[in-house]
Amino acid sequence: MCGIVGAIAQRDVSPILLEGLRRLEYRGYDSCGVCTVSDGGFNCVKTVEKVQALTAKVQQHPCPGRLGIAHTRWATHGGPSETNAHPHIVGNLAMVHNGIIENFAQMKEELLKAGYAFKSQTDTEALLARIHFLHAKQGLPLINAFAKALSEVKGSYALALIDRDHPETLYVARQGSPLVIGLGIGENFAASDVLALLPVTRRFIYMKEGEIAALTTSEVKLYDLSLNPLHAEIAESDLDAESISKGKYRHFMQKEIFEQPEALASTMMGRLSGDRVDLSSVAGFSKAALSDIDSIKIVACGTSYHAGLVGKYWLEELAGISTSVEIASEYRYRKAVVKPHSLFVTISQSGETADTLASLRLAKKQGYAATLCVCNVSASSLMRESDFSLMTRAGAEIGVASTKAFTTQLLCLLLLTVYLGALRGALSPEREKEITSAIRALPEAARAVLSGDERVSRLAEEFAGKHHCLFLGRGIMYPIALEGALKLKEISYIHAEGYAAGELKHGPIALIDDKMPVVVVAPDNALLSKLESNIEEVRARGGRLCVFSQGAGSLREDPQTEILTLPPAPAILQPILFTLPLQLLAYHCAVINGTDVDQPRNLAKSVTVE
Ligand code: M6R
Repeated sequence: MCGIVGAIAQRDVSPILLEGLRRLEYRGYDSCGVCTVSDGGFNCVKTVEKVQALTAKVQQHPCPGRLGIAHTRWATHGGPSETNAHPHIVGNLAMVHNGIIENFAQMKEELLKAGYAFKSQTDTEALLARIHFLHAKQGLPLINAFAKALSEVKGSYALALIDRDHPETLYVARQGSPLVIGLGIGENFAASDVLALLPVTRRFIYMKEGEIAALTTSEVKLYDLSLNPLHAEIAESDLDAESISKGKYRHFMQKEIFEQPEALASTMMGRLSGDRVDLSSVAGFSKAALSDIDSIKIVACGTSYHAGLVGKYWLEELAGISTSVEIASEYRYRKAVVKPHSLFVTISQSGETADTLASLRLAKKQGYAATLCVCNVSASSLMRESDFSLMTRAGAEIGVASTKAFTTQLLCLLLLTVYLGALRGALSPEREKEITSAIRALPEAARAVLSGDERVSRLAEEFAGKHHCLFLGRGIMYPIALEGALKLKEISYIHAEGYAAGELKHGPIALIDDKMPVVVVAPDNALLSKLESNIEEVRARGGRLCVFSQGAGSLREDPQTEILTLPPAPAILQPILFTLPLQLLAYHCAVINGTDVDQPRNLAKSVTVE
């Protein structure tokens, strides 16, 4: 959830650290700080504002030095304040941390007895004091003290640690929170995400669980927690530094919405062969392992969970595979019955979501036939730990609200459905041909829907000053209604709920009045007439309707009902295409409400704590 950066170089590192933080701000942004070493002392600057304010503050109070660490925070222990902001300092040591030290209270109690005093309410300061105690009071060399303290930790961490008395080494460690080491020439770096380091290097070591590293300007030494040396694999990233620029757009979210045609084209690239879906070249895929599968469990969080719900409709209807979908934070704490020949699927943009990762690790002990992840980040923990992986290839997604990651997840699930359906003989070659030709038309169809942006932005004005909103859909469009509601609430702060339209009369209809817009996702499909009855129920109670349709059925505009018509498109694409105007609606409502679109309050892009 937090972002950390560290650097050791033969030049001043504060510009590298601040640029790294700017690039990591999506991970957490309630406070931030930087600390460098020069002339045997620390230069530490913090703020409860954003990285831009920190950069301005550093201009007033410069942080020279060739060794440094920096942090952007999403508060867990202790509210946002300069005292709780990282880096924390204890004696000659300074440290930044992403994760949660669950046994920090016990650590703190013992350290209080040993005479330590604490300035902050954070778990990080307690761990740093423990490292300091083992090093300064018990005489362990710093790396041994670091490793020993970490072996006592219950919880998760990505850490960067520096010693003002020995500014020739940067120490880092990882357990449960992501960390990469960036390799430069005569300089080395560490960060929570490669994006932070792209301006300085493309060569990375992706640290694994339980690893510690010591970085100097000329080398990187990697160890396990017992300090046995490990071999480090170096990987080259194909992302470029520009992947995090807004280009001509006002917000990352807006850019990412409009990138969807290209993102979808790249998701399908190399996976369609003539009239067939061919996933045989996808990393690790083995027909033998997959052809026996007769049930699927999908586990994910947030928007990725909604993608899973759509996947269930496809997998059951087209591939004939019994599928169930669960929220990861629920799945990991219950006793599940695992059917034989069952495939465990996780879906995640980041591949680092703590609950999803924990569910995967649990599933690996539960007797599933195989594990598969649908993921957007190639070197993520989820990708590394799953048997098979299907990359969404959406490109870097920076806006906290997931947009292109969601639609590319849907496309991956559709490709998987068709592949499995054909493999099992559940899908006829004619139907497979129909679907593949629809998929090929998807980028163009998405472009056509996005060209209606202006109309959606006018519609968004209707939502100004509104406090509540309902989203309705039926069948496969029900999860799309859920996703539309999630998008609206997380960035515009308008309270929104998604419902299966048939559920309306079982409770939510009591809420209908002329102050609460009801958004209906109403494509031309077999359930349209049923949905129209639900629309009438709202109309009869004076509700204000905003209907996304394809011009079919008996829906007509009137003073209570605004209809936004999408271009005609193959039915199989409806869940993906109807998502787009809902994303635009949420975006424009957020802009009208003046919220921080890319970094909405209380949220973070990558939820690496449970
Ligand atoms: O990285 P993941 O896809 O695992 O993240 C899951 C959720 O945290 C994420 O989808 C969240 O709900 C988004 N903010 C939604 O826009």
